[in-house]
Amino acid sequence: MAHSLLYLLFLSFLLLFSSLSHSQSDQFCDAGVGYSESTCGISSSKLLIKGGTVVNAHHQQIADVYVEDGIIVAVQPNIKVPDDVTLLDATGKYVMPGGIDPHTHLAMEFMGTETIDDYFSGQAAALAGGTTMHIDFVIPVNGSLVAGFEAYEKKAKKSCMDYGFHMAITKWDESVSREMEIMVKEKGINSFKFFMAYKGSLMINDELLLQGFERCKSLGALAMVHAENGDAVFEGQKRMIELGITGPEGHALSRPAVLEGEATARAIRLAKFVNTPLYVVHVMSIDAMEEIAKARKSGQKVIGEPVVSGLVLNDSGLWDPEFITAAKYVMSPPIREAGHDKALQAALSTGVLQLVGTDHCVFNSTQKAFGIDDFRKIPNGVNGIEERMHLVWDTMVESGQISVTDYVRITSTECARIFNIYPRKGAILAGSDADIIIFNPNSSFEISASSHHSRTDTNIYEGRKGKGKVEVTIVGGRVVWKDDELKVVPGCGKYIEMPPLSYLFNGIDKADAKYRSSLKAPVKRFKSTS
Ligand code: URP
Ligand code: ZN
Ligand code: ZN
Repeated sequence: MAHSLLYLLFLSFLLLFSSLSHSQSDQFCDAGVGYSESTCGISSSKLLIKGGTVVNAHHQQIADVYVEDGIIVAVQPNIKVPDDVTLLDATGKYVMPGGIDPHTHLAMEFMGTETIDDYFSGQAAALAGGTTMHIDFVIPVNGSLVAGFEAYEKKAKKSCMDYGFHMAITKWDESVSREMEIMVKEKGINSFKFFMAYKGSLMINDELLLQGFERCKSLGALAMVHAENGDAVFEGQKRMIELGITGPEGHALSRPAVLEGEATARAIRLAKFVNTPLYVVHVMSIDAMEEIAKARKSGQKVIGEPVVSGLVLNDSGLWDPEFITAAKYVMSPPIREAGHDKALQAALSTGVLQLVGTDHCVFNSTQKAFGIDDFRKIPNGVNGIEERMHLVWDTMVESGQISVTDYVRITSTECARIFNIYPRKGAILAGSDADIIIFNPNSSFEISASSHHSRTDTNIYEGRKGKGKVEVTIVGGRVVWKDDELKVVPGCGKYIEMPPLSYLFNGIDKADAKYRSSLKAPVKRFKSTS
């Protein structure tokens, strides 16, 4: 009862806040290149989506969805509304929660350059592809989390959809530990990423990893890892250069799957030692996936996130004779040889892996060419924020590997649950934010750099076609994508604070108590007096 009252209060606050932010954002209506001008989309404070199949992770039904002021008010058949309400006909189509991408890098400084999609162009691309929220990684400034957070707050001012932040931890001292608490208690961050690779820049060692895991646990925050053995990668890179292999294929050869498997296993064991939940980002190989499967089978709380590139591509592109074509596929961990993709799909369909990200981190051809003579200098990262929803549908649902409800779970709901923002996000329920897509399973999509909305000039999925199409995207109750037209405005997006202690922390204290009592120590010994 108290919980429902709190939720109602929370909703009233949201309604007030969202109407305030709407009136503010109307002042920012300078549309970007390639995007139509509008005032926060086809604005209507009241919307009725009629006759579609409404899909949640737990259930699907034919129903109408009524939206007022950015919030879903009712989900039921045959809702009657006055004439001034905007109608969208969804007959024969799916009405689903907008996608939530748990893993992006917009406007990130990395490898001597900056990703070309910023918070406006990256999010515009996302909306055209049916993703309505993403969680981006804040990189500390000179090790300072507070300075990093402030820098990303500025970058995100031009947002046109909602977003949250993870925080990377790149060094360790008392001030980082203190700032982690500030991030969780004051800034709405509930996850910290540790890079086990990128030696000499972002990489941390096992001592830091352990201290970081302990701190995450004490704050109820989720520890995330980029799992590759960075020392071995460094040696692998030297080996390739000594062998005269300087092109993009050297990237994959220098960091084989065994190094991803080793780091994944190590991170899992250290998380077990600390007894804290672990989230493994961009799982790219059978080796890493099997470590996650083993840990989950033993009861350990480990989440595995494959990314679209790893699910639908193999490494053949890296051997392309054209440098730029090959370089566009360079990301870490690398896209693996054929076989890993299918195994990751199977793991996703059986619940061994839980949700799909993109690791959207794009550099244009000029930036990729920094590594023309040495693959170690090719900025690492690929696109995916616009393509994820279509490719996951085509690869997983259209192929018969998962149901439509599972599709909603792995593209939206599970992310909202893990990062503790469900059911505000990730659901079509009364009270949830009106972040909604209308998806036509009988239509089709085709991907090309010539028509995508990202600022980059290449696309790793160039020419790919498939079944299904996001026909309408609604974000915060505003129609921003319809009839292949995008109407977005910088400044419309909101920062979503994510509270600590998600469901993954349930039972952690009990397991700790059990461990403590299992020790049968210290043994009481009596000192001999003779
Ligand atoms: O190649 C990648 N993955 N670039 C982005 C940084 C990261 O490791 O997530
Ligand atoms: Zn990473
Ligand atoms: Zn990443």
